[in-house]
Amino acid sequence: MTTRLIRHTDSSDFERELEYAAKVIRSGGLVVFPTETVYGLGADATNESATEKIYLAKGRPSDNPLIIHIAKPEDATPYAYTDECFFKLAKAFMPGALTVVLPAKDTIPKRTRAGLDTVAVRCPENPIARRLIELSGVPIAAPSANLSGSPSPTRLEHVISDMSGRVEVIIDGGECDIGIESTIIKLNPDGGAILLRPGRITEDMLLPYLKYLKVAPAVTDGLKEGEVAISPGMKYRHYAPKAPLYLVSGDSTRFLDYLKSRPEDLRIAVIAYDDEGGLFNGIKNITRFSFGSREDELYQAHLLFDLLRKIDILDFDEIYAPLPRREGMGLALYNRMIRAAAHQIIRM
Ligand code: TXA
Ligand code: MG
Repeated sequence: MTTRLIRHTDSSDFERELEYAAKVIRSGGLVVFPTETVYGLGADATNESATEKIYLAKGRPSDNPLIIHIAKPEDATPYAYTDECFFKLAKAFMPGALTVVLPAKDTIPKRTRAGLDTVAVRCPENPIARRLIELSGVPIAAPSANLSGSPSPTRLEHVISDMSGRVEVIIDGGECDIGIESTIIKLNPDGGAILLRPGRITEDMLLPYLKYLKVAPAVTDGLKEGEVAISPGMKYRHYAPKAPLYLVSGDSTRFLDYLKSRPEDLRIAVIAYDDEGGLFNGIKNITRFSFGSREDELYQAHLLFDLLRKIDILDFDEIYAPLPRREGMGLALYNRMIRAAAHQIIRM
């Protein structure tokens, strides 16, 4: 299929183009659109055959459910059993990078939620995303717009490379502000919640609105043999670069010695904070990629997926990156990076 690219402009033509994209959604087609987290691959969430196309375009396993995107929190009620706690969270964080898993109503086809009796709801902040949802008049089911197994797309070039020819429309929204996917929590009937995926909305930000917030073990650890995932997405290996990725903690001079002991014909990529950057200069087989300043986890999150894609294209033999901390925004980085690294950690 030929894909229409809608360029972002400030003119009234852009609104007309968005109306066209909304028509594609209503008629059961696929539209890639920007959000503040990552680009989404959207279809009418209430149309089973439309959401079926999402799974095909991504190559996504059919037991991995989709998030439904709505224009405002009240729009969740026709599709999910909303409660007081949901609206408290909505008031604080919506529109924004928070997804809430609620008991589903039958108005959302089983296919969209992969047979679960719950549905994940998100109200994005990006104005293009919001306008598209409003114009469509239906909730938009959208996973990240990458091929299954590659990093989520945060720039137009990423979606073009993964989705061109697979969707009717791609809407350009420039670079995504946040750069990693939304925080996902599952609300319990007692006013507590389980953190299924960490993101920009951190544990500390959420806690004042919840009785408790338990971090699902799979956020930091691999699923154990035979363990059932609370969120089906947890069980898939994500963002796997072609070369093995190792996360490194501990002394950086010992790490440097380790790198020097590797065979000289290996092409090695090192992702390093700026304060350590100089360490790796002048070693022939090492290419250094900046991860920004050590404290600036927002910037690191913004950069991560683009960096993984770039490094992948350059065909290294081994990739090394710092092991993030597990607090605050660090937990979101840790969760994405530990999966990309298939849990390979080197402690120096
Ligand atoms: O930021 C985001 O959330 C982006 C943008 C496009 O909105 N979307 C996104 O979707 O990351 P996706 O499909 O790539 O990741 C959604 C995750 C999956 O791991 C899926 O298993 C989980 O959410 N999920 C969806 N519905 C669920 C449910 N009812 N219960 C538990 N987990 C659910
Ligand atoms: Mg995804």
